[in-house]
Amino acid sequence: MSEIAKLQIGENSYEFPLTKGTENEVAIDIKTLRGATNGVITIDRGFKNTGSCESEITFLDGEKGVLRYRGYSIEELAEKADFLEVAYALIFGNLPTQEQLNKFHADIKSKSVVDDDIKKILDAFPKTAHPMGVLSSLTSALTAFNPSSVNVDSEEDMYNSIVKILGKFPVLVSWTMRKKQGLPLNYGSTSLGYVENILKMMFEQPNESYEISPIIKDALDKLLILHADHEQNCSTSTVRIVGSSHAGLFASLSAGISALWGPLHGGANQAVLEMLEAIKADGGDTKKYMAKAKDKNDPFRLMGFGHRVYKNFDPRARIIKKAADEVLNDLGIEDPILDIAKGLEQEALSDPYFVDRKLYPNVDFYSGIIYRAMGIPVEMFTVMFALGRLPGWIAQWKEMRLNKEPIGRPRQVYTGENLRSFVEIENR
Ligand code: CMC
Repeated sequence: MSEIAKLQIGENSYEFPLTKGTENEVAIDIKTLRGATNGVITIDRGFKNTGSCESEITFLDGEKGVLRYRGYSIEELAEKADFLEVAYALIFGNLPTQEQLNKFHADIKSKSVVDDDIKKILDAFPKTAHPMGVLSSLTSALTAFNPSSVNVDSEEDMYNSIVKILGKFPVLVSWTMRKKQGLPLNYGSTSLGYVENILKMMFEQPNESYEISPIIKDALDKLLILHADHEQNCSTSTVRIVGSSHAGLFASLSAGISALWGPLHGGANQAVLEMLEAIKADGGDTKKYMAKAKDKNDPFRLMGFGHRVYKNFDPRARIIKKAADEVLNDLGIEDPILDIAKGLEQEALSDPYFVDRKLYPNVDFYSGIIYRAMGIPVEMFTVMFALGRLPGWIAQWKEMRLNKEPIGRPRQVYTGENLRSFVEIENR
């Protein structure tokens, strides 16, 4: 292939270099476009064809259903790794040695206590507040309690802010849930593993000791790994773009949490469970809901289906579907909505509407069924997604700052009024 792309605009032709990734992805580098053409830009609503950066973190081939973090396949990581080593690999580039992992975990634990005044902020929220709003606010509030902005040129500063947020974030997650349930706030125990401690912080009752179920611990490890990064998705792009203004790490993460909340992104896991419940309450008529999803006059979409990048099975959905079967089986739970979900999937996979548009189940389709089996309330599902995505956001923010990327600032094509005169209010 020629290493140059040619563009013809009227009589003039322009050449732009191609840039190639390590997996042979090709992009046209248009940074000289506007200057060379005297003002012409590209337009690409929803950035469907636009790369915002070069990144070494996550590789995704949506046509083949491939996902890798730092070169490791998601299937192998989900099978063999634990969440903290995946977090380390995402943030620092390679899987840690045992010694590196021990130090990383010890540093995280040493920074996990949050300022007690955070509880006052939490107290001010009504119990009805959505946990994603609360989590985003508390994460933003952490900035006020840890005001020194990160000196990104100092490896030590960068490392300290990373272990700080990895320590404090699970505390905020568990407090968000406990506040809603009227339970006392706790810290778990530093004697536990990272994921075990998350479970203890979330579920321990004030009057009994909490026994960690290895089935639930393994399931949570797997779910967090599967959510840990997904290259330039909506929330990650948000974190990178907010961070590109040199806003701090915690402020950038808080913005990412808000982006994740929407039902077209992470909020889909809550929406899927609510949809499956609604179908069940409506007599389990999946055909009726399939018809609604296909009806262009009906705003209903089959939640948990479709993906901007995957035009083949989402590899995460494949792993989660299998895990849902195993976890429910191991815990001895029969959940009728698992059958409804499988029925919907079966119908969609043979329906021309879904087949032609390459709509497959995504990561959110089966995850809620596992979360529910673990005892996690539906409104907390997207918070669990955020907990998993945290290392990915951190890794992407770190990469963006270390690469000294310029401030993210897209252009536009203006389609409003041309210049007109101001009309006094009495004459309008
Ligand atoms: N149900 C019914 N039709 C759909 C669905 C769906 N879930 N998803 C896409 N379509 C149709 C859409 O109407 C369009 O049809 P047409 O070409 O006739 O206009 C076509 O498929 C392409 O859809 P699109 O909206 O242009 O695709 P997109 O890449 O902009 O959107 C998506 C991707 C994930 C937002 C979308 O598929 C969707 O809304 N899915 C449901 C929400 C969901 O499950 N989100 C979680 C995504 S995965 C995890 C994450 O990112 O957090």
